[in-house]
Amino acid sequence: MPKSLTISFAAAKLPSSGTLFVLVGEGFTHASGAEELLEDTQVLRAASATEFNGKAGTSLEIMAPNASPVDRLVVMGLGDIDKMTEQDWVKLGGTIAGKLGKAKTVTIFGDVDASSAANIAFGAKLRTYAFDKYKTKKKDDGKAKKMTNARVTIATGAVQAAKTEWSKLSAIADGVHLARDLVNEPANVLGPVEFAAAAKGLEKVGCKVSILGDKELAKLGMGSLLSVSQGSTKPARVAIMEWKGGKARQKPVAFIGKGVVFDTGGISIKPGAGMGDMKGDMGGAATVTGLMHALAARKAKVNAVGIIGCVENMPDGDATRPGDIVTSLSGQTIEILNTDAEGRLVLADLLWYAEDKFKPQFMVDLATLTGAILVALGSEHAGLFSNDDDLSAQISDAGKATGELVWRMPLSKAYDKLIDTPNADMKNIGGRMAGSITAAQFLQRFVRDTPWAHLDVAGTAMNAPKSEISQSWASGYGVRLLDRMVADNYED
Ligand code: BES
Ligand code: MN
Ligand code: ZN
Repeated sequence: MPKSLTISFAAAKLPSSGTLFVLVGEGFTHASGAEELLEDTQVLRAASATEFNGKAGTSLEIMAPNASPVDRLVVMGLGDIDKMTEQDWVKLGGTIAGKLGKAKTVTIFGDVDASSAANIAFGAKLRTYAFDKYKTKKKDDGKAKKMTNARVTIATGAVQAAKTEWSKLSAIADGVHLARDLVNEPANVLGPVEFAAAAKGLEKVGCKVSILGDKELAKLGMGSLLSVSQGSTKPARVAIMEWKGGKARQKPVAFIGKGVVFDTGGISIKPGAGMGDMKGDMGGAATVTGLMHALAARKAKVNAVGIIGCVENMPDGDATRPGDIVTSLSGQTIEILNTDAEGRLVLADLLWYAEDKFKPQFMVDLATLTGAILVALGSEHAGLFSNDDDLSAQISDAGKATGELVWRMPLSKAYDKLIDTPNADMKNIGGRMAGSITAAQFLQRFVRDTPWAHLDVAGTAMNAPKSEISQSWASGYGVRLLDRMVADNYED
């Protein structure tokens, strides 16, 4: 059932109705105030019958418990509470949200500090995301779906601090949800024009947003990007989102996203099986948009710019042919030998543009760029490629802190050679081997002196495994990662 949560924080007090979650450590250790409830014979009998002892990941559920007027008591095992990481609290919030069922009034009771309480709320909000706008019927009874709301109160000894932290995390969750929505949305609804309009929506959180149309892109000389959209009836758009939360003279940080709203492969058409997934080939751009939302909504003290290239890759009488040679914004020529290697063609012009126009402190691009990164890393890590060890380390560290992991892959002259061609400055494919690396080498040819990192998110942005904090096909991967990376290194 679709659910929205209204979350608040309050001093620890056992409720007199609704659903109550009580957090206990291993050995049934618990916050003071819960003694009467947890030492009740009914609870103790139930615990011993199910061998529940507060181990992490276990829970005990009792309806209409004798020792409390609540309807439902759920005792949640946390294991060794002192060893719980930030992400454990986030996952706990997700797990609790997954157990809400039809609950309307919910209390989470435990000995929880401000940031743990805020992280529980964060996990709960991330978990309740659902993409169900096109579901007109409910599965079980055929009746129209109804959104239900639950009021969740999280007990903490530091209410004000929890609220302050939650207001930031809630903004980040909104950014994740925005990214998920964009990825889940099908391409008949979300074309390049509509995507750019969604980016424009960030004006409401204080971003300055400008949109470049077909003619402007042609005039600028983005021949590489436009070669991708020329087979589609839908014109290309580039959206530029700027958030100025830092000092006036501070150079911005830049995020660049591949926004292929649908990737048929073009004339080098893809096989039919699984092609529907290619509605998510704008995952990089969705993350950039969600990230910009998060930074602006939590008023990050940084100047940031997000640039997304929105195009559709279609086969058509006017589409790019294998063998065509185009001139990119950089002036470098590209022999397009496979029209399915289109993401790099979009990013090439955007990277060049970003460096020229914004002189950023660094550039990070995100793209569902290669199937090969799935072969290498599955869904556990995004592939990280970079010309800069410090930038790389900042992203890896943020990955460990948020659980949105990256794994660094190599770049080198030897790989770079694989995209040389006699007919132009480069070709857009390497050989059969090292497909994710040759794609990254291609991008690097459009980066000059700026520290740059490329995240290949083909395995992490879409088709995501379900987890405590995401039940969605689109994960929103990268919003939390890069928000953290900015917060830890670039805010003043
Ligand atoms: N969008 C795809 C990559 C992709 C594959 C994303 C699977 C998500 C899941 C990309 O445009 C593509 O088609 N890449 C080709 C490159 C090849 C032609 C050099 C690929 O990976 O096969
Ligand atoms: Mn492709
Ligand atoms: Zn693609």
